[in-house]
Amino acid sequence: MSITLSQRSARYTTSPIRELLKLTEQPGMISLAGGLPAADSFPVNALRAACAEVLDTQAHAALQYGPSEGIAPLREWVAAHLSAQGVAATADEVLITSGSQQGLDLVGRVLIDPGSTVLVERPTYLGALQAFAPYAPQFVDLDEDADGALPALQAATRRDARMVYLQPDFRNPTGQTMTAARRAQWALALRDSEIALVEDGPYGELWFDGPPPRPLAAQLPGQSILLGTFSKVLSPGLRLGYVHAPQDVIARMTLARQAADLQTSSLTQRLVLRVLDDGLLDAQLPRIRALYRAQRDAMLAALSRYMPDTVLWDVPQGGMFLWLRLPEGADAAALLPLALARKVAYVPGTAFYAAGVAPRNTLRLSYATATPTQIETAIAHLGQIFSATSHVSAPRGDTPVFAG
Ligand SMILES: Cc1ncc(COP(=O)(O)O)c(C=O)c1O
Repeated sequence: MSITLSQRSARYTTSPIRELLKLTEQPGMISLAGGLPAADSFPVNALRAACAEVLDTQAHAALQYGPSEGIAPLREWVAAHLSAQGVAATADEVLITSGSQQGLDLVGRVLIDPGSTVLVERPTYLGALQAFAPYAPQFVDLDEDADGALPALQAATRRDARMVYLQPDFRNPTGQTMTAARRAQWALALRDSEIALVEDGPYGELWFDGPPPRPLAAQLPGQSILLGTFSKVLSPGLRLGYVHAPQDVIARMTLARQAADLQTSSLTQRLVLRVLDDGLLDAQLPRIRALYRAQRDAMLAALSRYMPDTVLWDVPQGGMFLWLRLPEGADAAALLPLALARKVAYVPGTAFYAAGVAPRNTLRLSYATATPTQIETAIAHLGQIFSATSHVSAPRGDTPVFAG
């Protein structure tokens, strides 16, 4: 006797990044692999004080079940926050979620039918692919240039597409930002279509020289679903995020999430509302921006110093990630065991492609978690490995750790 599982259950795939995170827990490992915020940035004291206050003053509500949509004052805070960024929002168009990852799953549940065309950037966030895949979409990769993904869609794609999933700000994994001009082109292209915009914006606040252009959703009222999170600006362990969408979409998502988990933690919502009302972000954001900027600079300096001329990268203007391109023919997955042997971890780029053939010569580095000194050490090791390998290609007979 064995238990028969659903066909959908077979579409839940493993994340090479989560697998890699297990390896990076080894002592002495410098991980440039995970997308983990710097632990030093967590507002421990403010959260401790808020926790005590919430339990002193509103313990019954904080420890009780609450509304599936989220508590009203937090939804109002999110609506005001989005409106200040140009995205006209009311509290009843906001759903509080357990991280934006839950928002991605809800998008899959309420938007995707088997075979629905879902347009994605190339490369894109692996967690979004994992969230959408169980609903059996047809992924179609978007072409892109230096301004970002191109809205030039073939007629058949345009007809069949249900949604486009974009990360305009400091995209995971490339760090690239879509220009204002390209956002305007997307708005124009989508406005006369049936295609929903799903905009994922966890990194928008983490800019270095100046904020990115306004969210694309600002130009597409009624046609966009915007996902946000407190993971990168407060702490991911809180598991608090939100979705902004037209009310009928929020109503469906609320039913879907009721079936899954009823609601987001009442205690966490009140805790976060407390620190937001105290203006914690005003102090927190400049601190995180300065920290990541210093770590990005350390990575750029080390890359210039240690990488062979054949290795290329873009300079991220915010967020947590830098995308490295090895020469054609090189295989970042096959080289990873050499890096791990020197206690350095990165993510081979093949993990981030939805459709088509993934190039094997790219890799993602995170500068968020490691200190400048660790970053320099790690990049020096990678530089040696990439320089020592002829054409930066895979050593003969090496088995790729990640086949794709
Ligand atoms: C682009 C993107 N979207 C969503 C998430 C999920 O974040 P969370 O569920 O912690 O809000 C991440 C996490 O790294 C991400 O990079």
